[in-house]
Amino acid sequence: MAELPPADVSWYDADIDRVIVTEDQIKEKIGHLAKQVAADYRSIDSVLLVGVLKGAVMFMADFAREMGRHGHPVELEFMAVSSYGQRATSSGVVRILKDLDRDIAGRHVVVVEDIVDSGLTLSWLMKYLQSRSAASVEVVALLRKPDAVQAKVPVKYIGFDIPNEFVVGYGLDYGERYRELPYVGVLKSAVYDRS
Ligand code: IMP
Repeated sequence: MAELPPADVSWYDADIDRVIVTEDQIKEKIGHLAKQVAADYRSIDSVLLVGVLKGAVMFMADFAREMGRHGHPVELEFMAVSSYGQRATSSGVVRILKDLDRDIAGRHVVVVEDIVDSGLTLSWLMKYLQSRSAASVEVVALLRKPDAVQAKVPVKYIGFDIPNEFVVGYGLDYGERYRELPYVGVLKSAVYDRS
């Protein structure tokens, strides 16, 4: 059995090549994003946040609390989706694994996304939410990769533009691991070699 690291060292630190966004940067950015969204929606009674499982869980939890601190009520909904496989993915077709729990007709929706890469998932999701008669649909994404910038995916609120690299942490996984990292980082190549 692998030996556990000392209590003050996280098990995952040894697997990280470099940190892209630190815990403090995430915290500060979420404060700014929530302030901006709260200001933009001040005339709306309650904003409906829709998070996509599982990646958005950390961001959703922190963003919702910051919205609360800025004096704006929110309600939380979660969806889970999966792509239909490589070919279908490029056409942006996704399968709903967990749908919304209630009617969103007439509601002002803000989709809370961990990362936008090709933007196909998000484009599909926005159309889906509009088809469910939301009054408005906007997106807050913590991270955005260059392809999303090129594809001009309509993300109104962005945390960080990051390089075109596979990242883990703060909800993002590699083989279901690393979601609990408090920062966003790139894995050492040795991690891929051993899997
Ligand atoms: P898109 O449809 O190409 O924009 O893909 C978005 C989804 O792909 C995100 O919600 C993530 O689940 C996943 N994803 C994209 N890039 C990364 C990454 O660098 N690390 C982990 N997951 C990623």
